[in-house]
Formats: sequence, structure tokens, C-alpha cells
Amino acid sequence: MIIKNFTEEHLPATAKLCRLNMQLDIMPDFLLREKTFGEPDYDSELTLLTFDENQPENPIGFIQGVIKQRPEEKIGFIKLLCVDSNFRRKGIASRLYEQAESKIKEAGVKKIRVYESYPNYFMPGVDPFYTEAVCFFERKGFKKFADTSNLSANLLELKYDTSKEEKSLEKEGIICRRASAEDKETILKWVEKNFTAWVHEVSESFKNNPVTLFICEVNGELKAFSAHEANNKGTGWFGPMGTDPSLRGKGIGGILLLKCLEDLKNMGYVKAIIPWVGPIPFYMHYANSKVERVFWRYEKILE
Ligand SMILES: CC(C)(COP(=O)(O)OP(=O)(O)OC[C@H]1O[C@@H](n2cnc3c(N)ncnc32)[C@H](O)[C@@H]1OP(=O)(O)O)[C@@H](O)C(=O)NCCC(=O)NCCS
Repeated sequence: MIIKNFTEEHLPATAKLCRLNMQLDIMPDFLLREKTFGEPDYDSELTLLTFDENQPENPIGFIQGVIKQRPEEKIGFIKLLCVDSNFRRKGIASRLYEQAESKIKEAGVKKIRVYESYPNYFMPGVDPFYTEAVCFFERKGFKKFADTSNLSANLLELKYDTSKEEKSLEKEGIICRRASAEDKETILKWVEKNFTAWVHEVSESFKNNPVTLFICEVNGELKAFSAHEANNKGTGWFGPMGTDPSLRGKGIGGILLLKCLEDLKNMGYVKAIIPWVGPIPFYMHYANSKVERVFWRYEKILE
């Protein structure tokens, strides 16, 4: 068994490994590129491949770890993990994991979580239908501490006309509109102050043309936002969104949500993924969104 660092030349074969062996997910090459080289905290020492001596071209195991500075502490994440189904229960994932864990420990990190490496994350936890992964992480000493879910919205069945609601808000000086490139600096400053964890995703939305971000202003002052195509681009991914507490309950979030979903529909998606939720009744109310996947969140405290 040979372990190598992941590099550009391995990207197509590694994406193929993920496609073939993570049956609940899709992993086009461009998405693996976003998850790896597009990761702001990308660490080549924590991104590893296993090769079998008899087939040096194709990787049979892949792990991606990252370390992120959170407000209170640094946390390590196992962001992706996959082993060829023909080579399982041979200790391949264990070898990859142990190498990543020891490097995470060397960096002085005291805690590791699985997936959920926001802002650039693939999934918000372990999908228990990957039951081998549940067994694997529990065996490695991880404890489940919460669960969460991804919802999905059928974009073909929604009614998007919010003109009546918008007109009535306009009387109070409240305007909902698409953000433009010129707004970028002001918006990022405001998000940094009010919704710090979402700055990166909001800034990603400005890379799309048109910008995949809608905002609400009261007398010209920013009060709410919602974005899409800001993470897992190319999959119909909604979010993040946030409304200033003083303006909650006025229907602004609903308008901004529907503007994003309509945008996704116009891009040709039939389904939107509303990840890592959060207020399920809100999304059910405005977009008839249903739970599509459940994720178990795992954590290991390093000794
Ligand atoms: C999870 C996964 C990476 C494990 O890879 P692996 O190389 O087979 O894992 P290992 O051989 O190192 O297993 C280590 C331990 O994990 C546990 N484990 C792994 N697979 C298991 C299974 N099918 N049943 C029970 N326990 C299992 C065992 O305790 C095992 O130790 P043991 O063989 O000494 O009993 C692999 O099953 C996989 O790629 N699954 C699909 C992708 C996936 O689920 N990724 C994570 C998504 S959240």
C-alpha cells in the first residue's frame, strides 16, 4: 500500500473513485476541484491518496482533512473520505485517517469533526445510510453530538410571484433586489459584522454572473440577504441567508428565498438543495421543502 499526497494530476481519477464509491452522491471533477483546490484552508499534507502496488494509476483510497480557525479554537475536519469498495476492511481508511489525525494533532488541534467544514463543505455530517462510515468513525473514537438535515425544494411546482408582498414593503421603504458587483464591499463588511460565518459563501456568490445574491435594504441600509450557488456550485445549492433580528417576521426572508429559488429554476435546475437546516417550518412554508437527507454530526476530542 502506497500513500501519496493528492496533486492536480490525480484529480480526475480521484473524482472517479468518489463517483464510483459514494453511491449517494455525485462528484463531477469540477466539484472535487472546488472542495480541494478551492478550499481556503487547503492543506496538501492532509489530502492523501492510497495506491495498490498492482495498479499505480488509480487511487483506491482518498482522504481530505483541513484545519480551521473557529472563534473559540482551531478544529480539524475530515472533509472527504472514500475507499474503493473492492478494497474495504483492509485498513486503508484507517491508515489514511491515522496519518491525517497525527498531522492535525501536531498542529496543536484538540478536536476533529467529520465533514461540516463550512464555508467550503461537501456535506454537513455523516449520512447514516453510509453505514460503513458510521461504524468507521465510531471505531475511531468519534461521538455523535447532534444531527441535521438537507431539505429539497421542487422548483417546478413553486409560485414565485412576490410582487404584492414587495409592493407593501416598499411603502415602508423596504426594497428587495439582486445585489450587483458594486455592492460587494458594503455587503461583505455588513455580513462580516452580522453573520461572520457566512462571509466566504457570500463572497463566492459575487464570482457568478449575474451575482447569485439577493438583498433587502431599508432606506438604503442593508438588512437581509440570501445567496445560492455559493458552495457546491453546479448542484442547485441554496444559502446562506440571514435577516437582521429587528426585521424578522415581515416576510422578507420568504421573498429573498423565492428570488434565489426562481434564479436556480431559470438556470435549469428542477430541484434546490437547502442544506444544514435550521428552521424547517420556514422552508416548508415558503417552498414546500421536505427533508431529503439526514446527517449525524460527529466529534472526537484528541488526547
Ligand atoms: C467508510 C469507509 C471509508 C471505510 O473504509 P475501509 O478502508 O473499509 O475502512 P477500514 O478497513 O480502515 O476499517 C476500520 C474500521 O472501521 C469499521 N468498519 C469499516 N467498515 C465497516 C463495515 N462495513 N462494517 C462494520 N465495521 C466497519 C471497523 O471497525 C473497521 O475495523 P476492523 O476491520 O478491524 O473491524 C468506506 O466504507 C467507504 O469508502 N464508504 C463509502 C464512502 C463513505 O461512506 N464516506 C464517508 C461518507 S460520510
